[in-house]
Amino acid sequence: MKEYENYPLLPHNTFGIDARARRFLEFPDSGELQAYLGNKPMAGEKHLVIGGGSNLLFLRDYDGTLLHSAIRGIETEAEDERRVFLKVGSGEIWDELVAYCVGKGWGGIENLSLIPGEVGAAAVQNIGAYGTEVCDCITRVDAVSLADGSPRTFNREECAYSYRDSIFKQAERGKYFVTYVHLVLEKGGAPRLDYRGLSGLLPHGAASTLAEVRDAVIALRREKLPDPEEWGNAGSFFMNPIVPDELYLSLKQQYPGLPSYKAGAAHTKIPAAWLIEQCGWKGRALGNAAVWERQPLVLINRGHASASEITELAGRIVADVQAKFGITLYPEVNYIS
Ligand code: EPU
Repeated sequence: MKEYENYPLLPHNTFGIDARARRFLEFPDSGELQAYLGNKPMAGEKHLVIGGGSNLLFLRDYDGTLLHSAIRGIETEAEDERRVFLKVGSGEIWDELVAYCVGKGWGGIENLSLIPGEVGAAAVQNIGAYGTEVCDCITRVDAVSLADGSPRTFNREECAYSYRDSIFKQAERGKYFVTYVHLVLEKGGAPRLDYRGLSGLLPHGAASTLAEVRDAVIALRREKLPDPEEWGNAGSFFMNPIVPDELYLSLKQQYPGLPSYKAGAAHTKIPAAWLIEQCGWKGRALGNAAVWERQPLVLINRGHASASEITELAGRIVADVQAKFGITLYPEVNYIS
């Protein structure tokens, strides 16, 4: 394992916030992690497990211990004519896994191409895009308790997945370090075309190959979303709100153009991007923070923004959306203090 003091976090957060961590620990395998935590449990000490830092906003220097996975490897555990079962190290780069699977002709995660971050965090956050969520392909998640170093496997039901959510963000928040993610993929799987904007971009429609789907998703993301290498950002800053149908129906009368998606029996999901645009924030800046001009759900660092400039902008947006629509937006990004 590697241990660092006063560790610079600039390479560990895509928002480009220049913060430091008091201590940073990196583990190359599950055995070392279990041994370390068995001797030095994290209970009682301020700590946080981070992935690629693509969904974090460090509000200040982190006065505690950050833990990071350097557990690599993509292993085929089993396969039959139709499916392949993979065990993937939590420190693998998510998009490298997608590229590998697409290259092999294994379908299921190609719509999640180019999402920044690592495999462990993908399973914690239940990343999603273009009609696919990673939980669709997860069979189980291996983790190690930060309290005593004991290993535990969470099957898919125990992970309690829902929109951008899992047990690791709820009841078990801050209690586990994810070591491996197990996935099932389909050999020669067909494209998933639920997302309207995707099918039109595919050269052969539903008959397109996985590689063509991956290329189309990459093109779509590059067109709509800022490249973190150029503009610091953490993807969607807010979650799309899910509101009771009553509220949706009354807003729809007032705003006939209101877009929506059904979300269960009595709820509707409304695109936060639309709400933010209606409040006039699309493309606007506040100091060194700004709302991305092509997708207002994304806030960007225009260069040397402080975390407080970004939270100030986010707060103004939340207040305006609340005042105009009576809907509260919640950050998708994790504020770390
Ligand atoms: N819209 C506007 N103005 C805009 C852009 C969008 O009004 O400038 C409205 C449109 O009605 C559009 C709708 O918002 O139809 C949805 O936009 P989009 O398809 O771009 O997706 P999103 O709901 O804004 C979600 C995810 C993205 C994911 C896309 C595509 C969340 C929080 N975000 O965004 O995920 O890439 O769908 O599936 O669910 C991320 O999590 O970091 C992320 C980028």
